Amino acid sequence: MKTETLYLETYGCQMNEYDSDRIRNALGASLTEDPRQADIVIVNTCAIREKADQKALSSLGRFKNLKTKNPELIVGVTGCVAQLYGDDLIRRIPHLDFVLGPRAIPGLPRLIEEIRENKSRPVETSFDVEEPFDVLPYHQEGKPTAFVSIQQGCNKKCAYCIVPTVRGAEVNRPLEDIIAEARHLIAKGVKEITLIGQTVNSWKLGRLRFGDLLRDLGEIEGLERIRFTTSYPRDITKKMVESMTEVPKICRHIHLPVQSGSDKVLRLMNRTYTRNWYVDSVKRLRDAMPDIAISSDIIVGYPGETEDDFEQTMTLVEEVGFDSSFSFKYSPRPGTAGEELWRSEERVEESTAGRRLARLQEYQREISLAKNMKRIGKSELVLIEEESRNDSSWLCGRTEHNRIVNFPGEKELIGKMVEVRITEGLANSLRGQYIN
Ligand code: SAH
Ligand code: F3S
Repeated sequence: MKTETLYLETYGCQMNEYDSDRIRNALGASLTEDPRQADIVIVNTCAIREKADQKALSSLGRFKNLKTKNPELIVGVTGCVAQLYGDDLIRRIPHLDFVLGPRAIPGLPRLIEEIRENKSRPVETSFDVEEPFDVLPYHQEGKPTAFVSIQQGCNKKCAYCIVPTVRGAEVNRPLEDIIAEARHLIAKGVKEITLIGQTVNSWKLGRLRFGDLLRDLGEIEGLERIRFTTSYPRDITKKMVESMTEVPKICRHIHLPVQSGSDKVLRLMNRTYTRNWYVDSVKRLRDAMPDIAISSDIIVGYPGETEDDFEQTMTLVEEVGFDSSFSFKYSPRPGTAGEELWRSEERVEESTAGRRLARLQEYQREISLAKNMKRIGKSELVLIEEESRNDSSWLCGRTEHNRIVNFPGEKELIGKMVEVRITEGLANSLRGQYIN
């Protein structure tokens, strides 16, 4: 059988990057950067905010002419937009051959066969899949970092969020499979693994909890660093904090989305914790690990957010002092509780939300910059990941605390853990000099 040539476009989070690498392996395909060379075109989509899902749909539109010129070409949509709109997409987009939800990736080769044999246009969005974790992701030779998915879906019910709708209920992957994938990657030269899941620290299987998984991974020889994302505040346990404190391979960084600093807004969002509770969790982490880096996600302009609520988010950002944060303007998502609230008089004006977002981002920039400036003169252990984006005579890697470091160096060093003396602190990264 001939090797398929695949043009693959990926939008969204780490989970989608991981799924794209699985799609590539499921098809045993070689990738092309030119859709005109492809047998199959796939757009792997994100639905988290309206802008993301529009981007995905307009991207699909670009392949219309190509399909007209080459009717043998198969054009498909996968990921969260596929799951969200399903049949609708097939009806609205005549040049689309298939729609495949995130759980159904293992069935992709059979789907392609079916399309070729029957000229059908399948929509596969069932969550009722026997082996949702089947098919390992493709791994680029020489890349020292990799994701390992330990969980699909989400059991939380944040009122703004589409993820539980499009990725289904939480399914946790068996411990042996996680360990086996980690070992397989290490054999290929991987040094750092990032465990991924929507609420990664809620992972459990039988009597095992996330803290146990961290400890078991910590025992694997050849693995140098373990990261994980995203943590749900209410799922931080004593066991997890102990593992982080005691296992040196676990990086001292936690991505811990807070979303808002106002108790009222947190309640409207159904986040199940209060501001004080969040601040206490941060204190617990810092008491155990004074150097831990903490990053976050924040939504502004959620329906019902007053100026005073927003100020509470600003004071929370000040009080916690996040190393970095991603912040977003609230975007209503179809069928969510948040959308209903957004349709009421509680809605926040776009311009108000925009102003708040700009203020918050500027403030976070100042905090991150000040924190990064404090690293100047210090020496940091950096796992070198790749050439720097803007200058190929520079290298780029990360510290244990997830700070990006750029410094001049030869590309032979990629994949090595080296000491770098920090010479400059910027808002989003550090610069330094490699110490021989
Ligand atoms: N647990 C997930 C969260 C996914 S969404 C994870 O793995 O990261 C990532 C972030 O997007 C959320 O933390 C939230 O801050 C933001 N977000 C989610 N839904 C949103 C919406 N409807 N509008 C704006 N931002 C949203
Ligand atoms: Fe979304 Fe909340 Fe789950 S943000 S992914 S519903 S934890």
